[in-house]
Amino acid sequence: MTVTTAEAVDACAETPVATERHYVMCPPTYFTVEYSINPWMDPDAPVDTDLAVAQWSELKRTYERLGHTVEVVEPQPGLPDMVFAANSGTVVDGRVLGSKFRAPERAAEAEHFRRWFLARGYREVVMPSRINEAEGDFAWTGRVLLAGTGFRTDPAAHAEAQEVLGVPVVSLQLVDPRYYHLDTALFVLRKGESAQIAYYPEAFSAGSRRVLRRMFPDAVVADEADAACLGLNGVSDGRNVVLPREATGLAKRIEECGYEPVLLDISELRKSGGGPKCCTMELH
Ligand code: ARG
Repeated sequence: MTVTTAEAVDACAETPVATERHYVMCPPTYFTVEYSINPWMDPDAPVDTDLAVAQWSELKRTYERLGHTVEVVEPQPGLPDMVFAANSGTVVDGRVLGSKFRAPERAAEAEHFRRWFLARGYREVVMPSRINEAEGDFAWTGRVLLAGTGFRTDPAAHAEAQEVLGVPVVSLQLVDPRYYHLDTALFVLRKGESAQIAYYPEAFSAGSRRVLRRMFPDAVVADEADAACLGLNGVSDGRNVVLPREATGLAKRIEECGYEPVLLDISELRKSGGGPKCCTMELH
């Protein structure tokens, strides 16, 4: 048995390699902030939907330019948060676990995505019985599913995900309401046996921090400034890492490890508490 410790692990030991990804996105055609279900959302602050569409389109074009496939789900009037496609399904090895939103305002999104999965030919689409905000709180490392709880996803949904997807789940406790979903505090830079993550420790309970240190001694540790612009809401293909453009400190740290940061303006979507990852569901 090998014992790993948090000390003296080189975060940059491996050369980053991109692999082709398959993403699902939903345009912010009906995007607004008309209710508040996280501290970022202020229904009195103006939102420019056209600008949100332009920023989203640039994100989609960026993925395509990097060689990835993007499928698009039809947006629905009256569902302003549907642009955050990451919240509507967790797909691992062709098995789909749908979602069940905590906020009644978002509840109807789950069914639109369930139908999309079925129309797209997925046979195994299971809808959860517990509150489950999908990739908002679930991050697949290629070996384990990291699962957040504390604000949205019910801890019982973690066991349900393990059962439905047949992958080991590691539960992590979120403690800061600004980082209400796991994907606002952590993302996977590199998948696989030697997965590498980036995360903001202060968003997690003391025990969860110890778990992360033990599991990922080579993690890129983000600071407050990285987190406060939703810099941990990144999307990595193993080499190219899409980040909000304000996340310059984090960009520098990952660049030192050979990753290629791709900085994008996602400011309009941040008014709803979202960033690049929230807009992107990955078909693993
Ligand atoms: N306004 C949305 C909500 O609070 C934002 C969701 C962001 N999505 C994410 N994967 N973090 O539900």
